Amino acid sequence: MSDPKSTELMEKIVSLSKRRGFIYPSSEVYGGINGFWDYGPLGAELKRNVKDLWWRSMVHYRDDVVGLEATIIMHPLIWKASGHLDTFSDPMSTCRQCKKLVRSDQAREMVEDADWFQELQRFYQQATQSSPVAVSAESLEKLAQATRKHAPSLALVRAREAVTARLLASAANNGPDWADENQFIRSVSTENAAAGLTHFPCPHCGGELTEPRPFNLMFKTHYGPVESDDNVCYLRPETAQAIFVQFKNVFETSRQKLPFGIAQVGKAFRNEVTPRNFTFRSREFEQMELEFFIKPDEAVAALAGGVASASDGAWQGTPQPDWGWEVWHKYWVEQRVRFYESIGLAREDFVEYWQKPDELAHYARATVDILFRFPFGVQELEGIAARGDFDLTQHQKFSGKSTEVFDEELRSAWAILDEPTRTALRARHESSLKESLLKKGIAGDEATAQAAAASQAYFEKLAKGHYVPHVIEPSAGVDRLILALLCKAYREVVSTDEKGKTETRVVLQFHPRIAPIKVGVFPLLKNKPELVAKALAVRDLLRPHMTVFYDESGAIGRRYARQDEAGTPFGVTIDFDTLGEKPELADTVTLRHRDDGRQERLPIAELLPRLLPLIR
Ligand code: GAP
Repeated sequence: MSDPKSTELMEKIVSLSKRRGFIYPSSEVYGGINGFWDYGPLGAELKRNVKDLWWRSMVHYRDDVVGLEATIIMHPLIWKASGHLDTFSDPMSTCRQCKKLVRSDQAREMVEDADWFQELQRFYQQATQSSPVAVSAESLEKLAQATRKHAPSLALVRAREAVTARLLASAANNGPDWADENQFIRSVSTENAAAGLTHFPCPHCGGELTEPRPFNLMFKTHYGPVESDDNVCYLRPETAQAIFVQFKNVFETSRQKLPFGIAQVGKAFRNEVTPRNFTFRSREFEQMELEFFIKPDEAVAALAGGVASASDGAWQGTPQPDWGWEVWHKYWVEQRVRFYESIGLAREDFVEYWQKPDELAHYARATVDILFRFPFGVQELEGIAARGDFDLTQHQKFSGKSTEVFDEELRSAWAILDEPTRTALRARHESSLKESLLKKGIAGDEATAQAAAASQAYFEKLAKGHYVPHVIEPSAGVDRLILALLCKAYREVVSTDEKGKTETRVVLQFHPRIAPIKVGVFPLLKNKPELVAKALAVRDLLRPHMTVFYDESGAIGRRYARQDEAGTPFGVTIDFDTLGEKPELADTVTLRHRDDGRQERLPIAELLPRLLPLIR
């Protein structure tokens, strides 16, 4: 449950975002459109900086990653092969009373934020302090009155007598309605006790939710002028699949050798049932994804004489030829956290959540969620999955085109590999295949036979140097990162003037690398042409290298405050000393630092060498 302080903080961030031009509701003049957001002047700069820095760290600063920019609409079979058509759905319920749609698995979380939920909780806790449950028709009537305004569809409100009778009888018999707080809350939302005990009330009105049914999240459209089943297509729900289907082209044209990665930044679309928490869950958003293709462990073992252990901390260092998928996976988790640190987030802001075996997607060998401490809870910012060869194998199967690579060194290495090592590798591979078949529900003997046949085919190819690469996938959301950066940067600074009047100002303490505006340039007075001319010259000196905001209007303190609120880390003031009033200070300026208000005097010629290392 988000506490009132965090709800208030989110409200302030949403309001500041609009007021200062970071984020606006999309199509606002038409009443908005739920789950869609636009980035204003400052937001657009912030987003661009974040994407550029991601691209630089992932692609430009590495020899083993190249980029891709693919279309949003792709061949519809891609989504059949990837599993999105059949399984990319969320459970959805409809409220029988207000008819709103609710994501069934989020009903409780959404209800928790409502005042009427807290009334119900308080009531339950008091009533169950004694045994038998201390409840009466009068106390239930009072509860109905207290919740009527915001949850008019609670069964306790709309069918009070029937529900009261059931709750009283159930209390007398130690019935299921009072078994625990959840059961009680479910039971007051329905007249039908049997159904009510499995569903939470509708977060919007307290009404009764229908059974969950799967709702596919992909936006569907048609290509060409005719709308028929033959030309259905989808807006991509992730950027990843384009990378898989272009893998062979990139591999053959980029002169990369495995291991190597393909990075892409771009829009993704998901028809979320309940977009919420500002931009956190949107229907249109951007992803920054890397698919890092590696050799399967058996190939690494043959080539490098063994596979490095993931437990010895190797992943903190430079990639080595004996790294298998586990070390590569940990390496990418570490790289991603280091990236976040480089743009102003701290390790303590995150929780690394290793998914439990029963939470893993069917294709994943391991997944780490990097969770950020948002004001509304600890929630996913990025997922880093070890996806095995699932994706490339699926596209090979559905397209009929090979996604295998040929590795001459592997063929030579396999030819001289000793028999005990080959046998051990085969045995381990076969047993892990069998385990996954058993998990899919294939019976014992059948699983043994299928695993043996698949393993044999796999090793026959491997011996000839052929295999389908495996994948490690760090997948981050741009919009969630922007929200995390806004939350992290937000500060309220209280100051008291000489007359004892206190004022609260907002300062966005963005890391200089991501700040939308890097430097404010201010002539002390706007009615002194010499000051203005000098300030414009400083602006023009800095502008080719960074975003500059020139501001000559208002008291200098107000101008600083406006830039603090925009998150601008530096301010340069041009005054009479700059013009040579004190000859020894001619052509010097004041450089102000946003976070501690520190001011220093330095020559104009030193501005660039001073600022550039801080913002790059
Ligand atoms: N290719 C893997 C993939 O798409 P995901 O966990 O579904 O994995 C990756 O998405 C990231 O995309 C998430 O960690 C999140 O940052 C972002 N994301 C996913 N759905 C989102 C939504 N509805 N709104 C905003 N960001 C979203």
